[in-house]
Amino acid sequence: MDEFASAVLDWFDRHGRKHLPWQQQPTPYRVWVSEIMLQQTQVATVIPYYERFMARYPDVAALADAPLDSVLDLWSGLGYYARARNLHKAAGIVMAEHGGVVPCEQRALEALPGIGRSTAGAIRALACGHFAVILDGNVKRVLARYHAIDGWPGKAAVADRLWTLAEAHTPTERVADYTQAMMDLGATVCTRSRPACDRCPVGSDCAAYRSGDPVAWPHRKPKTRKPHRSLRMLLLRNAAAELLLQKRPASGLWGGLWSLPEAEEEADLERWLGERFGLAMQAVEAWPAFDHQFTHFRLTVAPLLVDVAENAGRIQEMAPDNLLWYNTAHPAPGGFPAPVVKLIEQYRVIAGTTGAEQ
Ligand code: ADE
Repeated sequence: MDEFASAVLDWFDRHGRKHLPWQQQPTPYRVWVSEIMLQQTQVATVIPYYERFMARYPDVAALADAPLDSVLDLWSGLGYYARARNLHKAAGIVMAEHGGVVPCEQRALEALPGIGRSTAGAIRALACGHFAVILDGNVKRVLARYHAIDGWPGKAAVADRLWTLAEAHTPTERVADYTQAMMDLGATVCTRSRPACDRCPVGSDCAAYRSGDPVAWPHRKPKTRKPHRSLRMLLLRNAAAELLLQKRPASGLWGGLWSLPEAEEEADLERWLGERFGLAMQAVEAWPAFDHQFTHFRLTVAPLLVDVAENAGRIQEMAPDNLLWYNTAHPAPGGFPAPVVKLIEQYRVIAGTTGAEQ
């Protein structure tokens, strides 16, 4: 047995969890249900649900016979209800194809809805006494740190390396204890943000620990760069220090909100203002550009404060419903997009109209 596995097993004997409900009479059915519940939910939350589930459905036949609604009802509060639907569906398959006996073969288990490679490995290791390998989130973290495996484990090449290491460390004896130990080590010692390396049985050989920055592994998902757009927003200020607001079309970005007029960055601004709004440009001041993040793109807003002279009443004649001169000491006429709120706040500071109600 390799040194890693024997250190992990010694730690399990002293500190591992041995009294969890699914560790008592660990049949494939009982372990399967527990592993499904534990996929996205913490142990402490799972325990009462697990006990109610086992009392109601003590075996796979009882689960397969139950109406789906009753299973979902018992699951209510655990979340991720696809897990319950898959469990129920898989119970029907076990009845129809495996004579009501939960299989212990990797392929047969992986063929059941809701069971992936690691869950199949856990059922085999914990309940069947087979040599089997797991690589759930906890084990990925322990191994990625111990071996300082670079790259995001969601990438197939990184996951493949971790699976190979997981298999190489798994002992042929005491595979159930080792499997439980790895889960417990990841959940209680080698935690995501504050690992207790001083309590870790394999800390002295852990590459991440030796690097001085254990939480640098596993590497995070690389951020995909969002598309980028830029926009010139105009604070058009008239002689009364009011700003011109323009209502956005009802549909599309910022639909129906009041915004500042936008101009193409390349446009000849003086001419454009004359043609578009009948305004004469007098002075221009560029304000610092800033970024606004949307879910799907990044917007750089380049604001320009422009002093304009208007022919009296022209604006109202042109578009009475979607243009207005706004006195920033007054409450907003409607909703503003976030970057506009920010610009109007800045404008209020220079206009001395801070504290206006929104
Ligand atoms: N998480 C997933 N499987 C588990 C198990 N058997 N014990 C504790 N936590 C787990």
